[in-house]
Amino acid sequence: MPSRVPGAVRLGRRGPVVPGVALGLWQLGGRLWGRVGEGAADEVVGAAAETGLLFFDTAELYGAGRSEELLGAALRRHGVLGEAFIVTKVAGYRVTGRGVAGALEASARRLGRSPDLVLYHWPPPLPFTPCRAVRLLEEAVERGLAGYMGVSNFNAHELREAVECAKRHEVLVDQVHYSLAHRVPEHRLIPVARELGVAVMAWGPLAKGALAGKTRADNAARLLDPVFREAARDRGLQEALRRAAEATGKTMAVVALAWLRARGALPVAGARRRRHVLQAAEAAETTLPGEVVEMLDRASRRYLTRWGTCYRELHWNRYIPPPLQALLYRIILRGV
Ligand SMILES: NC(=O)c1ccc[n+]([C@@H]2O[C@H](COP(=O)([O-])OP(=O)(O)OC[C@H]3O[C@@H](n4cnc5c(N)ncnc54)[C@H](OP(=O)(O)O)[C@@H]3O)[C@@H](O)[C@H]2O)c1
Repeated sequence: MPSRVPGAVRLGRRGPVVPGVALGLWQLGGRLWGRVGEGAADEVVGAAAETGLLFFDTAELYGAGRSEELLGAALRRHGVLGEAFIVTKVAGYRVTGRGVAGALEASARRLGRSPDLVLYHWPPPLPFTPCRAVRLLEEAVERGLAGYMGVSNFNAHELREAVECAKRHEVLVDQVHYSLAHRVPEHRLIPVARELGVAVMAWGPLAKGALAGKTRADNAARLLDPVFREAARDRGLQEALRRAAEATGKTMAVVALAWLRARGALPVAGARRRRHVLQAAEAAETTLPGEVVEMLDRASRRYLTRWGTCYRELHWNRYIPPPLQALLYRIILRGV
């Protein structure tokens, strides 16, 4: 990690210290976001190096490896490959040691080195249990294929099982869908993660841009996301964000990310422009006044129950056998 670490936090109980906001790179090469090239990768990595926010989140599935490839190449061009903290994810259909090892070796080839943290992207398909994912990750860390391990989209029950299964390495994080417009994790997941000492990384922290003031569903990622559509039309929430931005002298995006930090989460802010990175870095060091946090809590109260109270993101995958999932994601969709 670079010497300047904006909003430094520790992952898990004994994990590494990282910046308080990560940069999400599904936007960099992900099919649903529309293709971007080396120029965008240079913008993002250049601004990240400038601000010290060299903390990146990617996945084998984003653009079928394109996101990892663009990130690795840009980090090398900027001479900061060694300093960055890279999180990648193995798909939840990888249920054998060989499958996980193969995926991580391919990620390392694209990135130019092994990732610092590997997450299991979604809970494994039935009848496999969260323990299966943990054993596979422990094996991968032991083989040096990743520095640390964690999970993603595990609900409270699955997270507890995962942590109880982990014997040799700590489950550092659970990366879940969490924002002002999607507060499902607050019911069970966050209290359990806190009790277990697991960091909560928040994906979709800006509701795909709706919480930063974007209202047009101009790409497939937004079109397919009901949370984006609803948050973009929610005048009360938009107005509250505008007032919070005015009161603090920040942008709506900074306020929405800082609210998550006030709630104890670590936002993964999707970025493909220099200004996205600069604002993410600003959010990592922004502490919102208590009355602003409360005002945003009130304005977003309906999202505590709007999407249910039990975390289920990507859980439909649990009912699709691994070979079918692989066929769907890798062959038919060729990534996401
Ligand atoms: N673990 C999982 O299952 C999972 C699932 C989804 C995402 N993720 C991760 O989480 C990351 C972020 O989540 P997300 O993809 O749902 O997106 P998001 O962070 O909610 O929204 C990102 C979009 O918001 C806009 N934006 C960002 N910063 C802004 C700023 N300062 N001002 C104005 N607009 C701004 C940009 O739109 P434009 O680019 O159009 O300007 C950007 O693409 C992803 O990149 C990925 O790494 C993980």
